[in-house]
Amino acid sequence: MGLFTKTPKTRPVPTHIAIIMDGNGRWAKKRALPRTAGHIAGAKTFKEIAKYCNKIGLKYLTVYAFSTENWKRPKDEVEGIMNLLRDYLKDTENFKEDNIRLKFIGNLEPLADDIKELIKHNEETSADATGLQVQIAINYGGRDEITNAVKKIVASGVSPDEITEDLISQNLYTCDIPDPDFIIRPSGEYRLSNYLIWQSAYAEYWFSDVLWPDFKPKHLELAIDEFHHRNRRFGGV
Ligand code: IPE
Ligand code: IPE
Ligand code: MG
Repeated sequence: MGLFTKTPKTRPVPTHIAIIMDGNGRWAKKRALPRTAGHIAGAKTFKEIAKYCNKIGLKYLTVYAFSTENWKRPKDEVEGIMNLLRDYLKDTENFKEDNIRLKFIGNLEPLADDIKELIKHNEETSADATGLQVQIAINYGGRDEITNAVKKIVASGVSPDEITEDLISQNLYTCDIPDPDFIIRPSGEYRLSNYLIWQSAYAEYWFSDVLWPDFKPKHLELAIDEFHHRNRRFGGV
């Protein structure tokens, strides 16, 4: 609990943590299990980490669950992930008592109709929650998001000199939340994989070799502790 309360005011505290939930496949492979078993284990980790973030008083958590590039995967894996999402959406009553608000970012249009309905239902029923706000990124790609923002801006008929950084931000899926200040990627990969590429301009990064299904609150605690010691200058001195 005390992670934030114990922190002296002069130390930076993250407002918005974004996590690339990576390593499910390798976790399963190590156990000679199908990749989908890794995704099931990863979904459990997500629930545990979201609850932990809520407990320590974090405001925003955004997790990468399925990228615009992940459609390239074998059909049965994609189906497995979509079924897992379906089950999860039917079962999020458990977040209710935690006062967690659930939102989704990405191009949701190509998703199955029942999934879209469930997403809407989950967003609506948790809309009044005042605790942690969780964004789940599904069929999300940073370049796709920026391309869509440009299309919307052009279609609105604004003149070039009216185009500002703020206007672009306002046309992204994340228009109503602050930029992530801390991006975490487990599984030993050191890349963004098209995640929040506009929003991460001044984020701090933390990498770990731990595979996502093995990721525990203690790892997040370690990461946040390191964040407290980062010197964020934003181009200043
Ligand atoms: C992340 O785990 C989950 C998704 C991309 C849907 P991976 O499935 O990418 O796991 P690895 O990287 O193959 O281990
Ligand atoms: C990024 O992981 C997407 C998600 C975690 C949902 P990937 O496993 O798809 O990324 P790459 O292919 O290793 O860059
Ligand atoms: Mg991966």
